[in-house]
Amino acid sequence: MKAQALVAAVLTLAATLTQVKAAHHEGDPSVKKGILLVTFGTSVPEAQPAFKNIDRLARARFPGADIHWAFTSRMIRKKLAARGEPVDSPTVALANMLEQGYTHVAVQSFHFIPGVEFHEVVRTAARFRGLGGFKQIDVGLPLLAGYDDVGRACATALSMAPAGRKPDEALVFMGHGSEHHGADLIYVATAAMLRERDALALLGTVEGHPTLDVVVAACKKANVKKAYLIPFMSVAGDHVRNDMAGDEDDSWKSVLTAQGIACEPVLTGMAECDTVVAIWLDHLDAVWKGLAAD
Ligand code: CO
Repeated sequence: MKAQALVAAVLTLAATLTQVKAAHHEGDPSVKKGILLVTFGTSVPEAQPAFKNIDRLARARFPGADIHWAFTSRMIRKKLAARGEPVDSPTVALANMLEQGYTHVAVQSFHFIPGVEFHEVVRTAARFRGLGGFKQIDVGLPLLAGYDDVGRACATALSMAPAGRKPDEALVFMGHGSEHHGADLIYVATAAMLRERDALALLGTVEGHPTLDVVVAACKKANVKKAYLIPFMSVAGDHVRNDMAGDEDDSWKSVLTAQGIACEPVLTGMAECDTVVAIWLDHLDAVWKGLAAD
C-alpha cells in the first residue's frame, strides 16, 4: 500500500472509531450500552414479518442503539443453523456482547407471559450479572405483565377481527398456555377481559388453560355458527398453521367444524401489530432508562 493510501485508511479508521465511541459512550468512556431482543424464534418463513416488525419498531424507538437478537428455542436454532441461517442463543449473544466490550445491557423478552422461557432468560441474565462482566444487565417484562398490558393486548386482539365480521360470529383466539406455575392464570384473566369487551370473543390455549373444550362449550352455549380463528401469539408459526388452522383431526379448525361451526382462520401474528409491539417496547424503555443511572 502506498503511504498516501495508508494514511487515508488510518484516518478513515480513526474517524470511524471516534464515531463509534461517540455513539456508544455518550461522553462517558466507561459506558457501552446495548440491547438484546429475545424471542422464542420461528423456523416458518411466513412468520418472519412479525420479527421484522419488532426489529423495525425497536430501531425507530431507540435510534442509534446497538440492537442484538437471540432465539430461546434450541430446536428452532438447530433448524435455522442447518439452513445456514444461524441465530444466537441468549447465552451466546450475551457472551459476544461481553467480548465486544458492552458494559450495560437491556434485555427484552418478546414472550407473552412470565413462563418457562421468560424465566430462563432471567436466569441467563442473572448468571452474566454474577460473572461480573457487565456493570449492569436487566431484563424487561414480558407482554402481559399487568392489568394495563392485558387491556392493551385485548384491544389489539379485538382489532384483528376481519372487517366483515357479523355480530353473531365468534372470535376464537389461540394463546399458547403454560405449565409454569401461575402463568396460565394470565390467560384466564385475559379471556375474561376479552369477553367483558366482546361477548363472543373467546380465548383458549394449545398447551394450558383455558382449554379448547372451554371455548367449544362457550360457542355451543351461544349457538355460534361461524368463528374466526385468530392467533393470540406473536407469530403465525407452527402452532397457528397446524394446531389452529391445520387439516388434522385435532386442529381447532377441525374440532370446531365437527361441532357445526364454520371456521375462517386469520394467519397474522400479533407481533405484526404495532400496538402490541409498543407494549414490549414500553417495558424495554423502562429498563433502558434505568441503565447506567448511577
Ligand atoms: Co409450543
